Amino acid sequence: MDVRAALVADAKRMLDCLKSGSITQAASITSLPASIYTDDEGFALEKERLFRRAPLMLAASCELREPGDCKVMDVAGIPLLVVRGRDGVVRTFLNACTHRGARLMRECGHAARFTCPYHAWSFRLDGSLVAVPASEAFGDPDPDDSRLVAFPTTERAGLIWAILDPAAAPDFDAFLGGYDKLLAAFGFEHWHHFESRSLAGANWKLAFDAHLEFYHLPVLHRATFGPKMSNLAEYFYYGPHQRLGLVSRSEHVLEQDDVAGLADIPEDDWPLLPLLFGEWIIFPNVSINCFYKGGRGVIISQVFPGATVGESVTVQMFLHENPPGEALLEDARAMSEFLGQVVGTEDLPMSRAQQETLSSGLLARVQFGRNEGGVQHFHEWIQRFVEAPINHLLPRIMQQL
Ligand code: FES
Ligand SMILES: [Fe+2]
Repeated sequence: MDVRAALVADAKRMLDCLKSGSITQAASITSLPASIYTDDEGFALEKERLFRRAPLMLAASCELREPGDCKVMDVAGIPLLVVRGRDGVVRTFLNACTHRGARLMRECGHAARFTCPYHAWSFRLDGSLVAVPASEAFGDPDPDDSRLVAFPTTERAGLIWAILDPAAAPDFDAFLGGYDKLLAAFGFEHWHHFESRSLAGANWKLAFDAHLEFYHLPVLHRATFGPKMSNLAEYFYYGPHQRLGLVSRSEHVLEQDDVAGLADIPEDDWPLLPLLFGEWIIFPNVSINCFYKGGRGVIISQVFPGATVGESVTVQMFLHENPPGEALLEDARAMSEFLGQVVGTEDLPMSRAQQETLSSGLLARVQFGRNEGGVQHFHEWIQRFVEAPINHLLPRIMQQL
């Protein structure tokens, strides 16, 4: 993939949209049964066939910069331990001791090795068993059977993906289809992680729908973004992944350097920064929003299914290209708080209220407009994963129909 050519093509289409004040509409309004947000069986299938089959973007490289840095998380009911090894390679393990399943690490941090809090078996950062206390009494456990359960993992574009099926083939290329090469233009591996927070929400798809359209911006976010905010998104699709560009000529709170300024510059001289405008969606559950405060920053939102169909957790992770000096920290923190407020007090309460009405079972269907093509795209890809027989490998699911 010619990254610059792809970015330039997107920017040109965006300039056309800005000129005409219109977007490329989806072919038609679509609808889906409201039960996609409330049905227990569908939810179980999503966890099994989507969250255990599609590669998931779990962490930013800069969260795990040094060997021994580790991140503890729960994804769709699976406790995970992501760690950078002494060889610099990032690995993802089930956060479970192979003696009898105790959680090895309770929180993110740094470890030279993992020692189980139950009977103190210990493991190297590569997952191999180091020591069994009182082994003369216990006996010698088989080293192969005693390795931590490992998931296929890759690190690209300064981001870390894993497939939550230990037996899966590492088909990352089939899934990403070059989208990672576009993301690599940000250079996230050199950025800095300065804050993360978790916010509770309703069904994970209801919570994520709100990341996929701008239709609601001047309405639901009237108090925070203002009533004049554009509600038009131009969508750019890359397999299941997508970008959203806000069709707006006026400055707004997040971006000061978007594509509008390119109109007066010869195309060959277009700088990289505005070419990376907008919101980047990594299927199925991650959105990356750019903002500018003391340099470039992004908020990476990961929306994870919760314990039940009606619950989710949104993790907001803030990265900045500049190291956190005092002034930057203050600015970045202000932006972080603002976006925490937008999502935490506007989007997520809305999704909880929707969950309640949809759970009544009395609204048969929900609708997605011609201006919400990205939401249509998202649900089509979920269906494709959920409906593909369990023995279909990733490359086959990814083939265009
Ligand atoms: S469960 Fe970990 S050492 Fe026993
Ligand atoms: Fe929103």
